[in-house]
Amino acid sequence: MEEKVIIITGASSGIGAATAIYFSKLSAKLVLVARNPTNLRRIALYCEKSSGTAPLTLTADVTEELDNERIIRETVEHFGKLDVLINNAGVIGMGGIKTSTMETFDTVMSTNIRAVYHLTKLAVPHLITSKGCIVNISCIAGSKPNTSTLAYNISKAALDHFTKCVALELAPDGVRVNSINPGLVKTNLLKNIGLNEDQLEMFVKNVLGNTPLKKQVEGDEVAALIEFLASDKAKSITGTCYVIDGGSLLK
Ligand SMILES: NC(=O)c1ccc[n+]([C@@H]2O[C@H](COP(=O)([O-])OP(=O)(O)OC[C@H]3O[C@@H](n4cnc5c(N)ncnc54)[C@H](OP(=O)(O)O)[C@@H]3O)[C@@H](O)[C@H]2O)c1
Repeated sequence: MEEKVIIITGASSGIGAATAIYFSKLSAKLVLVARNPTNLRRIALYCEKSSGTAPLTLTADVTEELDNERIIRETVEHFGKLDVLINNAGVIGMGGIKTSTMETFDTVMSTNIRAVYHLTKLAVPHLITSKGCIVNISCIAGSKPNTSTLAYNISKAALDHFTKCVALELAPDGVRVNSINPGLVKTNLLKNIGLNEDQLEMFVKNVLGNTPLKKQVEGDEVAALIEFLASDKAKSITGTCYVIDGGSLLK
């Protein structure tokens, strides 16, 4: 990974932060993107300590088109190229068709699918030049219906289909596109929508009750799968949705 220039969106927390730290240990050239500058700086410092090289940190909101233009422009100005785009930034919103609001729908869809569509569109010319690849962080919620996070589930179903369509379109250009679909990972995703400790504990207990391996996925397990998909070991793999869920989808 040493010579690879890698953009990680949502690098200030959870899976994105774990991935940044994981790839910094492989001496990749990192571009870390998120809205919260304090958290982003904390992760960047951690990466710099482990690799000796400072990542490029960009405080940006991926739902803003101008921010996405800046992400790609500054990446290419700083590193001269782009090899891997990791579309990881995402949000969850609670509620089914009876209880959710249109505001939740708009926030979730604009972050989890519209932003991915736009940032990918801007990245593609550079990825074609580098024969690079894209890894989208989706979720098993995209294929497993539930009653409590409708907007989130359909955003991830859309992301999975986006992965497959774009993989088909970019295959002749030598650009591979895959997604990773985790089950429950211990991050701030659920805390950020206001679940308190008791509600979180209850949620985790319910999910683990339906998880054959009885464990949550770790962020660096997701990072290791990203490394595989971004490497030449996966040179024949495109358009797939890799499940990492402790067996949840079996039930
Ligand atoms: N945790 C799970 O159980 C789980 C399971 C399956 C899939 N996933 C997926 O994994 C991805 C990462 O989530 P996580 O669990 O690591 O949650 P997290 O800890 O809440 O991290 C989400 C990241 O996305 C960033 N972000 C959110 N909205 C953004 C925006 N508009 N612009 C730029 N950055 C934005 C956040 O940073 P700022 O707030 O600083 O912007 C943060 O760095 C998501 O796509 C999620 O759907 C999570």
